Amino acid sequence: RVLVVDFGSQVTQLIARRLRESGVYCEVHPYNRADRAFIEGFGPQAIILSGSPHSTHWENSPRADDAVFELGVPVLGICYGEQTMMAQLGGSVEGSEDKEFGRADIQIVAESPLFDGFGGVGHEERVWMSHGDRVASLAPGFHVIATSHHAPFAAIADEGRRFYGVQFHPEVVHTPRGALLLRNFTHKIAGLKGDWTMAAFREEAMAKIRDQVGSGRVICGLSGGVDSAVAAKLIHDAIGDQLTCVFVDTGLMRLNEAEEVVGLFRDSFNIPLVHADEEALFLGELDGVTDPEAKRKTIGRLFIDVFEKHAKAAGGADFLAQGTLYPDVIESVSFDGGPSVTIKSHHNVGGLPERMNMKLVEPLRELFKDEVRALGRELGLPDAFVQRHPFPGPGLGIRIPGAVSKEKADILRKADAIYIDEIRKAGLYDTIWQAFAVLLPVQTVGVMGDARTYDHVLALRAVTSVDGMTADYFPFDHDFLGRTATRIINEVRGVNRVVYDVTSKPPGTIEWE
Ligand code: XMP
Repeated sequence: RVLVVDFGSQVTQLIARRLRESGVYCEVHPYNRADRAFIEGFGPQAIILSGSPHSTHWENSPRADDAVFELGVPVLGICYGEQTMMAQLGGSVEGSEDKEFGRADIQIVAESPLFDGFGGVGHEERVWMSHGDRVASLAPGFHVIATSHHAPFAAIADEGRRFYGVQFHPEVVHTPRGALLLRNFTHKIAGLKGDWTMAAFREEAMAKIRDQVGSGRVICGLSGGVDSAVAAKLIHDAIGDQLTCVFVDTGLMRLNEAEEVVGLFRDSFNIPLVHADEEALFLGELDGVTDPEAKRKTIGRLFIDVFEKHAKAAGGADFLAQGTLYPDVIESVSFDGGPSVTIKSHHNVGGLPERMNMKLVEPLRELFKDEVRALGRELGLPDAFVQRHPFPGPGLGIRIPGAVSKEKADILRKADAIYIDEIRKAGLYDTIWQAFAVLLPVQTVGVMGDARTYDHVLALRAVTSVDGMTADYFPFDHDFLGRTATRIINEVRGVNRVVYDVTSKPPGTIEWE
């Protein structure tokens, strides 16, 4: 197992992800919690020091506990991690005029197992740099193994002690062979086998859940989405019927969503599940609400009320389970008052744990979406469920611009299902990150048979994306669009015109509201 000491870099979790991809188990812990007792208790076989937004020159800038360098295990410092290693072991760091951000080329100047498979001395390698400071003089025992134009100490090594430092970021995809470098560190230098799998993650996560929860009761809101489903199944596997799930049907779900969720969880998995049919409440309160933010707030507030009511009726709980993923978590290391963790909570359950005095169980906090899908498969969730596109908490409420009604939600559900069906038939579902229909508050004139129609316009949206932060519209061919439009207009009463959204994000967002 590898310990990643976090100094607060935005990309620290990518280190963990790269290690997991190469079959190495690791945990990320903030530097100020990784003291000697912790590190010795953890028993790492290798340690990685992350980057940081800080400068080693600043007063009280973060340091690695001396134990890091005294355990006799290999250490890799990345960017700030390299600098603090130098500052702590007897070298020095300087603020540099030549700040380096973005692509850079390094040249390998000495043989090292860290660069195994790269091409040897003289080889040039593309890397991604992001630093203001740089190492000015090396600590005793170190020598340079790669240089770049602006960073004479782009990579350094003390092969005897197995201490390494790199000024660039091997964990980001912009360093094309960064994963190989990390693998060299963990496999070749630290001698790890790389036999860790999702199955092992599952076992470890279950043990952690049992540890945290004890004999307490846990409640989990199922949304129909992948994340909450995977979290719920994992927790149930760990603690059985100490878990109760609540599925709040807002009336703004996709076609047959409630049946599918209830069928899978209650009937197939035998997980205690409360199916709260609250369509009338949600649609009633949304009546006449047209402002997007007002809609989101209304849905969020009702969700909390309803969830609380059903959770209490089910006997209450000590813990609230959430399918929070790493991209939802902004972990910030606070420099004045100890470690602090800020969660960008899903709008759906914001404030709920405090209000109901529950602690959080978040077994997926360290994972990325594709890893959650892999875990879902490991847990025996059906493939079709695990591969589902993301669906926003406020549901169809934010896909019906203007006033929401049951009639409109029914039209949208049918049209959306046809659209998704065509996407599946075309074999494109897994290529597209998210696809859905939007029912516009615009009616246009059409002609069907010999009659005049005056019905809604439906917009289709499909995007490719890695994390939902940026996105591009999906370039369907015209046959696909024509076929889908015809089916929707023929099969769904209330729609007589279909348009396709070709906006990327930015400047658009994925959802229309
Ligand atoms: P936007 O529209 O901001 O969406 O580009 C990015 C991703 O987030 C989803 N989304 C939400 N998910 N609660 C959620 O759980 C919400 O309130 C919410 N709003 C947007 C959206 O579907 C897309 O995947």
